[in-house]
Formats: sequence, structure tokens, C-alpha cells
Amino acid sequence: MNDTFLKACRGEKVPYTPIWIMRQAGRYLPQYRAVRGKADFLTMCRTPELAAEVTMQPIDILGVDAAILFSDILIPCGAMGQGLEFHEGRGPLLSPAIRSADTVKKLLVPDPEETMGFVMDAIRLLRKELAGRVPLIGFAGAPFTTATYMIEGGTSKNFLNTKRMIFESPALYAALMDKVTGTITEYLKAQISAGAQAVQIFDTWGGIFSPSDFREYALSYVKRIIKDLRSWMKRERSEPVPIIYFVGETAGLLEEIKDAGADVYGVDWRINIDDAVRRLGGNAVVQGNLDPLSMFLPKEKIEEKAADILKRASSAKGHIFNLGHGVVPETPPQNVIALVEMVHRISKK
Ligand code: CP3
Repeated sequence: MNDTFLKACRGEKVPYTPIWIMRQAGRYLPQYRAVRGKADFLTMCRTPELAAEVTMQPIDILGVDAAILFSDILIPCGAMGQGLEFHEGRGPLLSPAIRSADTVKKLLVPDPEETMGFVMDAIRLLRKELAGRVPLIGFAGAPFTTATYMIEGGTSKNFLNTKRMIFESPALYAALMDKVTGTITEYLKAQISAGAQAVQIFDTWGGIFSPSDFREYALSYVKRIIKDLRSWMKRERSEPVPIIYFVGETAGLLEEIKDAGADVYGVDWRINIDDAVRRLGGNAVVQGNLDPLSMFLPKEKIEEKAADILKRASSAKGHIFNLGHGVVPETPPQNVIALVEMVHRISKK
């Protein structure tokens, strides 16, 4: 039973700093590519046995302290009624793009077990397979980051359509966000009920806003989710599960982010983690924050950088080591294996 990750989330004393890696189950692993060679990405997400198989791979291969459910933040968009496809080399495609009152009106706030039961089945299967070896993290996209894909119809460079809707048609944006926020709240509750032992909310694109716009158009909806989850957990559960909030381009937004009400804050690499701790109010639990591309450095240099982050993060109430964003497909797996060993060795008390 390795509960170091959950203890760190709660700010409790730990024998060493726990580590997991965003996108730890992914294309950089030959074992993932072997499964992926037989099924497309969405089929993997929708087949609990395949999702569970690739979720387990980094536990065995890397020795990380937490498993993260293999799925995608865009799964709820499909459940809301939007067409969802992934195309080789082009990323996700969502259709129709949600830009009018008519398309917003047609979106559902679905029952998660009915429409995304395969996710909850994967969680139930994984809890059995993990048998307490490491905790299982569930996740969802934050409403704003999810909505960018729904509005743009896929990945975007400057989020023109999203910002146009926000600035030209704020009421339409609010109506869309009400539905997305409701969907994600119920989805996270279903994941926790199925056995997720922590949840991470990904706000990958939060950094495209000025601080005051971030507060109004992104953070307010995350606060709503966390508040709802907390009162639901109080009623329904003997012990609450930790909530992690990750924002990409964290540095300009820490004074806003700290009001989210999360247990743990994910920090990207564009800021020293001790600065982030100070700006989060000094009493925060943080997760991060090695540049994902530093995985291409020689091992001695990776170790120097990992040691520096561990030292800086000692000012926090708790620290979970991670990269500042997802591991990229070109990454040499040996370097990720080495990083996990280093973090465990250097931080050992
Ligand atoms: O972290 C994990 O190991 C858990 C699984 C996970 C995936 N995506 C698997 C995935 C998680 C937590 C995500 C989150 C996600 N998905 C985010 C937020 C975090 C981040 O990375 O910024 C976003 C923005 C997405 C949307 C998404 N999914 C895009 C834009 C793409 C295409 C680009 C790409 O990397 O291929 C995906 C596909 C995706 N999601 C893959 C994986 C392993 C690659 C699919 C493949 O095998 O071809």
C-alpha cells in the first residue's frame, strides 16, 4: 500500500516526495504504442480493459506513486451530443463547432453513468487491479479549457472564436458554460463514486487570459465545481478525495488561482516553484514543475534540475513532483524511469 501521494495531497508528513507524470500513459512508451497499434485512441478510451491496461503500464515501468486514468478531457463533449473524432496528426475534431444559441440549446447535460459508463467501468476495474498498490487519479478538463475545444471545433492557436463569443456574446458563453460546468461536476462525482481517489481538473489554456478575465471567464466555473464537490463529498463520503487544479501558464495567474479552493495546485515550469508557493499564500500544496523537454538533457543535468525543484519546494506544506505539462511523445523512456528514481532517492528522509 503506497499512499504517499494522498498523504502529500493532504499536506501530511511523507517518507519521500511522491511523483507521477502528466500523460504518463502515452506514445513515448513502446508498450503503449503496441496497444495503440491495435486500436484507435477513442476505442482505447471506450474499452475499459484497454484503458486499464495502459493506465497500469507506467506503474510497472516507471514506479510512479499514482496512476492516472487513461481517458481524455474531451470525452464529456461527446456525451453532451457533439461529434468527437481524433485524426492522426491533426488532433481532436469536434462538430458542429458550438457558436450559436441553437447549438448551445441542443447540448445535453448527460447522466455520466449512462453516457460515459465505460470511464467508470475502467475506474472500477483499475481499483481491483491496483489493489491498493498506488492511488488512482480521475480527471476532467476545466469548463473553460473544455469549452475552447467545443467552440473552436478542435485545437486552436489564438482562440479567436472563443474570445469572440466571450466578448461579443457573454450571455451565450454563460449559457454554454452552465451546461459544461454541470456536466463536468456530475462526471467528477461519478468518477469519485466509482473509486477515483483524487481528481485533477485540467485548465491547460487558462493562461490565454488577463488575470481579471481569467477570474471571470475560467476560474469562477472551477470554483463552482469545487464548491459543489466539497458539499457533495461532505454528505456522501466518509473521507473527501483531494482536488488538484492545474493551469497552464500558471505564473501570471497565481493570485487568482489560489482562490479556487483546491487542495493541490499544479504549477508549470515558467516560474520557480518556491515563488509559486509564496504567491499561493505560503500554505499551499504544490505539484510540479520540471520542463517536460528537460527530459532530453543528460541524466546528470536532469538530476541537478530535479534536486533544485525539490529544494525549492521544501517551503511548501506539501509537494508532489511532476512535469510542468505532459510528457512529449519523443521522450526517451529511460530518462523518465531515471527521474522517478532520482526524486525518490534525493527526497528520502
Ligand atoms: O495523463 C495521462 O496519462 C492520462 C490520460 C490523458 C490523456 N489526455 C491521454 C491522451 C489526459 C489526462 C489527457 C488530458 C488532455 N487531453 C488535455 C489536458 C492536459 C494537457 O495535456 O494539456 C487536453 C488539452 C487534451 C486534449 C487532447 N487529447 C488533444 C489536443 C490531443 C491530441 C494531441 C496529442 O497529443 O495527440 C489528445 C490526444 C491524447 N490524449 C493522446 C493521449 C495519450 C494521444 C492519442 C494517441 O495515442 O494518438
